[in-house]
Order: sequence, then structure tokens, then C-alpha cells
Amino acid sequence: MKKFLRTIFTYDNFSCLFTLRNVTLALALIIPIIVWMVRKRSVPPGPFTFPIFGSFQLLGVDGKSLNKTLIEIGKKYGPIFRINLGNCYLTVVQGHDLIQEALTNGAEYFQRRPVWLHTAKAIYNGKGIIWGDGTEWQTINKIAGKTANQFVTSKSVMEATIQEEIRLILNELYLEKCRPINLRLIISNAVYNILSTLTFGERLEYDRSSCRTFKENLQSLALADIMRMPENYQIYSRWFSKKVESLSKTRSKIIEFLEPRLTNHKSAFVKRESKDFIDICVQHIRDGDSKLDDEDVLQSMIDLFTAGCEPTVSVLMWAFLFMVRYPEMQKRCRFEIMKAMSNSKNPSWGDRDKMLYVQAVLLEVKRFASAMSCGLPHTMDTDLELGGYRIPRGDIVIFHQYASHMDPTYWKRPSEFRPENFIDSDGKLIQHVAFFPYGHGPRACPFSSVTDKILYLTFTSILTQYELRSPDDSPMPSTDSVPGTIRFPKNYYVCPYPIES
Ligand code: HEM
Repeated sequence: MKKFLRTIFTYDNFSCLFTLRNVTLALALIIPIIVWMVRKRSVPPGPFTFPIFGSFQLLGVDGKSLNKTLIEIGKKYGPIFRINLGNCYLTVVQGHDLIQEALTNGAEYFQRRPVWLHTAKAIYNGKGIIWGDGTEWQTINKIAGKTANQFVTSKSVMEATIQEEIRLILNELYLEKCRPINLRLIISNAVYNILSTLTFGERLEYDRSSCRTFKENLQSLALADIMRMPENYQIYSRWFSKKVESLSKTRSKIIEFLEPRLTNHKSAFVKRESKDFIDICVQHIRDGDSKLDDEDVLQSMIDLFTAGCEPTVSVLMWAFLFMVRYPEMQKRCRFEIMKAMSNSKNPSWGDRDKMLYVQAVLLEVKRFASAMSCGLPHTMDTDLELGGYRIPRGDIVIFHQYASHMDPTYWKRPSEFRPENFIDSDGKLIQHVAFFPYGHGPRACPFSSVTDKILYLTFTSILTQYELRSPDDSPMPSTDSVPGTIRFPKNYYVCPYPIES
């Protein structure tokens, strides 16, 4: 044994062991660095940001519009880039071909929402449609689809609901006729009412303060840009800010308004042809089809309002803005609508096919408005290849709709309003791959069909009754948008002149 030990610890063997240890140590250090560098090189490129703090630029600290900032970064780094936000990364996909690829081929991977985001978790706790995930989301999404389908196919309920709200808009216009008026309040009152009928079968009586407060609270939630709140990405900012707390309180007040409606629906529930969103939820729960609880249903009701109302109001505000800016276009639309309606009193959805130009105008409005210009955030729980890069799991991913809708390689003069973008040389409507106002894939807007009807009926009904003009002493409304999570035009006024029949 002694001899054996002596042989091992001769100088030569010892130095050899020593070198071997050094090499092993060096490899243990170098290999992870090489792996890290290779993996880092394979992620999308992006601008420099300070570690821990991340990009202040994206949080709007410089006061610039998020869309403009993202387009500028895209020009430098290409159609897919990645930005450090502080405690997580944001990958932005801008090229429409990449967006198509991601949301069709990679749809099931991009199905998730970053439910772990501080603001989303603190306010919504993974409940509902927008911030829900997993089987509960699948069920509630199915219910949303059913509600939309039923609302659209039960022609009488749907059109009667919308027509009643339009009648009230027209009454308001009559009261203000020829005088400057900001359309936003009357349009938003109508849209909130259509969605409240769809959600819980009731209109909001705005002369009651509880209804007005309910609407105001929903607006605060819908317009709070929770994705851009620093509290998500810089933990220390949570010490100073009370925003999340205040939004949670707002949500509780909304729940207080909705809860009795849910209870009433449950107690008065009889198996019948379902009517509104709560009815369909209650039916599912009774049939034992799902594990949905009251919190899921209540949050989903909030989601229908917060995801639906303001974007719809925004698109209508853009639509009337362009009609005021381009009186010839307005005249052409009116002529086409009147001709298609022939002797009927109001335009109906059935007349739509006879109105190619009006359809093109509404499509171009949706392109220009890009009301939800960044869509809603996505994430994946596995690394994914896209456009030759690896998007690491856990990144927040946004599909930048605005960039696609404004891509000059795809659209002719994209910053101009051109309904011709949607009409081909044979006078038919064009389906564009770079056009996706309602998103793509499993998380796409479940209410696009309802929205299209609201937009079409409101737009055509107002144009048949009123000519909208810019007030004499004011400049034409600007096509600039105001900063915010939903792209609204700057405030403008119109004078509604009744059309002589
Ligand atoms: C012009 C109006 C509208 C636009 C531009 C719009 C657009 C969108 C977009 C871009 C998304 C996200 C898609 C994604 O994550 O990739 C979305 C989701 C959603 N929208 Fe709409 N929407 C509109 C109207 C409505 C209306 C009227 C409702 C409700 C009645 C509604 C309810 C929802 C809901 C619940 C989601 C979340 C779906 C999910 O996460 O699974 N939207 N919408």
C-alpha cells in the first residue's frame, strides 16, 4: 500500500493531476459561457438597456407613442426584436409573415397570457377570459363564442338591441342638430348598453348614478395601461405606487354592481333558449360541464366590457372623423347606403353585400385605427423558434398589429386613409394577410362578428340621417392619436345636419 501511494504522489503524477484539475475547472467555466453566448446570440437582437432597470423608453417615460417607439426600434433591429424590461423580457414581432407563422403554426404555444405579471395577478388573479389560462379559459372562451354566435344569429334580438341604441344616438343628434358636438359620449353610452344587454340582458339607465358610476369604473379599468405600469417590471416601484391598489378597488366596485345580476340570473334560471352571457355560463355550470365558479363568471363579464367597449368606440370615432375630413367620401357612402336600402326605413345587415364601398371604408377605418395596436400580450412555456431566432420561454410576446397595418412594403401610402386599399381592380373586396384588427389564432377576439355588426349598423344609420361637417371656425380633425392602450383620435367636434328626405 505504501508503495502504491508513493507511486501516485511522485512529482510527475502530481503535476499531471494538477493540470488535469485546472483544465477541468477551466472547461467547467468556459463551457457554460460558450453555451450562454450561443444561446444569447440565437435570441432576437434588441437595444441596450440597463440591467435591473430595463427599458424606460417602453414605459412611455419619454412621452412618445408606444407605436412610434416600436416602429423606430424595428427599423434598426428588424421584424423581431427583444427588450429587457427589468425583471423580464419583451419580444416584439412586427413582420406580418412572422405574425401569421407564429399565430397559425405556433398557435398552441402562444395561447398563454403572462398571468404572472404583477398588475394582472394583483387585479385579476388569473380569472376571466383575458387573463385566464388553462381549462377554465377554454370553457369561458367557448361560452363567449356561443354568446357571440347566438347574438349574431338571433337577428331580431341583435338588430333590435343595436337599432334601439342607434335611435337614441339619433335623438341626441337631433337635439344638437347643426351645433358642434363631441360624439364620444353618446356613442360610448350606446356601445356600453349594447354590451350590457349582451352580457346581463339589461340596459344601463344613465340617469341612475349607480349605472353612470359602473360605466366610469369600467372605463378606468379599460383605459388603465396595465402592461406599461412600471410596477410589473421594477419591483422597487411598487413601494411608491398606489395604482394597483386603486385599480383593485375599482374592480371590487364593478363586482358589487354585477354580483346581484349574477345571483338573479341563477335564482330565476329556467332551462330555456339561452339569452345572454350569464345565462349561457349558468347553463354550463348547471349541466356540470365545467368547474367555473362565480369569480370566473364575474371577471369574464368585466372582460367583455373592458376588452370590447372602448375599442369599438375608438373605431367609430375614427370612422366619423374620416367622414368629416373627406366630405366626398361621406357623400359616396350615403349614396350607396340609400340605394341599397331602397324603401326600408333603416339600413340592415342584409343590405351589406350591396355596399362594397361602405365595406371598404369600414375595413380601412379598422386598419387605420388599429384600435388595439399591440393586441393583448402572449407568452409560452417552452422556447420557440421564430424567424430564425429562439424566443425564450417566459418572454412576454406582442404581435405588433399597428406595424403590420402601417407597413409600406404592404400598403400603398399607409399613413393616408385609402378605402381603395381594400378594393381590387375587378371591384371586389380584398382579403389582406397583413390585416388582423381582431388578432389571430385561439386568442383572437371572440366577438369580432358582433363588433362588425355594431360598427356597420351605427355607421350606416347615422350617415343616412345626418351629414357630418366640421364646425365652420375649427380646423379639420387631426389624424393623430392620443397616447394610451387603445388608439383614440384626438378629440374633435362635428356639426350634424339633418338630411332632407
Ligand atoms: C373594434 C372593436 C374590437 C377590436 C379592434 C378588438 C380586438 C381584439 C384583439 C386584437 C384582441 C386580442 C387578440 C390576441 O390576444 O391576440 C381581442 C381580444 C378579446 N376581445 Fe376584442 N376587439 C373588439 C371588440 C370586442 C368586443 C365588442 C368584445 C366583447 C363583446 C370583445 C371581447 C374580447 C375578449 C373577451 C378578448 C380576449 C380573448 C382571449 O383572451 O381569449 N372585443 N380583441
